Amino acid sequence: MKTLQHLFDRNIKWADGIIAGNPEFFATLSRQQNPEYLWIGCSDSRVPANQIVDLPPGEVFVHRNIANLVVHTDLNCQSVIQYAVEVLKVKHIIICGHYGCSGVKAAMDNREYGLIDNWLRNIRDVRRFNSEALEGLQEDAQFDSLCELNVKEQVRNVCNSTIVQNAWRNGAELYIHGWIYNIKNGLLKDLGSCVSTDE
Ligand code: CO
Repeated sequence: MKTLQHLFDRNIKWADGIIAGNPEFFATLSRQQNPEYLWIGCSDSRVPANQIVDLPPGEVFVHRNIANLVVHTDLNCQSVIQYAVEVLKVKHIIICGHYGCSGVKAAMDNREYGLIDNWLRNIRDVRRFNSEALEGLQEDAQFDSLCELNVKEQVRNVCNSTIVQNAWRNGAELYIHGWIYNIKNGLLKDLGSCVSTDE
């Protein structure tokens, strides 16, 4: 069990299945990737990027972290955005949050969780920015609303990044989308916050 052999067995079956459908699939993909989408989503195991939009390997460039945050000083996330926009020249950046996000929930508590509290601070800020809209809502509604508001805030953060600002200034065709995924029914919802130019 130490070697996780069952995962290797599954891997062989999976690769065989893809080759059965298209013998050239891996050979073609090994030469280059040309994804049209950058997906920034939550690390939650229930929200796998490719599977949700039913796209095969090669179609989605992915960055995931707890609660799908885009923090201006996070070199990891900013580097992913830069590579995706400037080298891969993706046309769409999708920020995909999800209802029932444990990161958002933890940010609503007053409990201490340790190191991650520094990361969750970003969501607590989103809550503070939107305190009027959230005030008076029942806890469940507040939770759903904060999950959505968090996505919208991250869309703003992507739009305000130097990488995206420069890309737009240089005339790139680049759309930023804010989506939310419902883990109860497997469906995505567009939050209507698509941005395509410097506004
Ligand atoms: Co989450």
